[in-house]
Amino acid sequence: MNKNSKNKKRFDVIGIGNCTVDFLGIVPSFPRPDTKNKIIRFVQQGGGPVATALVTLARLGAKVSFIGKLGDNEFSHFVINDFIQEKVDISGVIKEEKAGPYLGFILIDKEKGSRTIYWTDQMVSPLRKEELSRDFITSSRILHFDEYNLPIAILAATWAKEEGIKTVLDAETPQKKELLPLIKLIDFLIVPEEFALGFSGKGNLKKAIEFFLKYGPEVVVITQGKKGSLTATKKKRFFQPTFNVPVVDTTGCGDVFHGGFIYGLLKNWPIEVISEFATAVASLKCEKLGGRAGCPSFQRVKDFLLSFGSERMKSFLERDR
Ligand SMILES: Nc1ncnc2c1ncn2[C@@H]1O[C@H](COP(=O)(O)OP(=O)(O)OP(=O)(O)O)[C@@H](O)[C@H]1O
Ligand SMILES: [Mg+2]
Repeated sequence: MNKNSKNKKRFDVIGIGNCTVDFLGIVPSFPRPDTKNKIIRFVQQGGGPVATALVTLARLGAKVSFIGKLGDNEFSHFVINDFIQEKVDISGVIKEEKAGPYLGFILIDKEKGSRTIYWTDQMVSPLRKEELSRDFITSSRILHFDEYNLPIAILAATWAKEEGIKTVLDAETPQKKELLPLIKLIDFLIVPEEFALGFSGKGNLKKAIEFFLKYGPEVVVITQGKKGSLTATKKKRFFQPTFNVPVVDTTGCGDVFHGGFIYGLLKNWPIEVISEFATAVASLKCEKLGGRAGCPSFQRVKDFLLSFGSERMKSFLERDR
């Protein structure tokens, strides 16, 4: 991405995918069937892999836009108002009266900070190909996708490839073999370990990485929850551990990691710096309940890394002042 193409683009990142309203409750422990249990703390918050990555990017200072279909109902209004407040552009949102976001019901184990999710798509009305505007989609430096609404993602990624726009994919369901045509169009594939092993059918991460690199992505990142993440290109591989923070809730860690990673791509930082930065962004998210409340500002991440980052990261940030 050269400076000229940067100047011409209306957005840094456009995201096409899932937006969710999450209902999150912290519980003392996971329930046994047929019991009544008090929720210690409850919040309602926006979520969804692409939508939360966009909010992360906006908080860091990037210019972002969400494309999806929403309607005239309580949950759609919640998502839209949240996007407006977070400075996520909504001019690409298609209106259809009864359409709505995904809904997520999330229980967080107070002791472990781990979460279990139930979700429904009963309000979701998928975008149709004829509703996509090539001009709008290609007005961005980077496109970010998740695995929801594949035909649309494949069309948009095809346009991106034709116009030299970089693409990022977050995927989570190993059984979705129909993701392969999209993966072949993607430049940066960032997926959790369960997806990488399950989708590739390989017995270990080394082989799974080779499997994905063979299909075209220039970078493959495999996230491994609180352990950290593995990053691989055709030339190098490295592991980035997480930072030790007081964990309240890990919901949305992957989504936020993607946001942090894309921010580094926009800055054209070295891949090791991007990985450590994204890890700090995702780690800081864990300090608050929900996928978005803990998304940090750029200054917060920088201050954190200047205290707890690697020596390489500290000197990079000092130079980048
Ligand atoms: N407990 C934790 N403490 C600190 N950082 C974490 C923790 N869990 C996850 N992270 C960070 O977030 C990244 C992504 O997490 P993970 O691999 O769980 O993604 P995911 O399974 O896609 O999660 P989700 O889709 O629910 O957001 C990890 O690589 C790590 O950097
Ligand atoms: Mg994820």
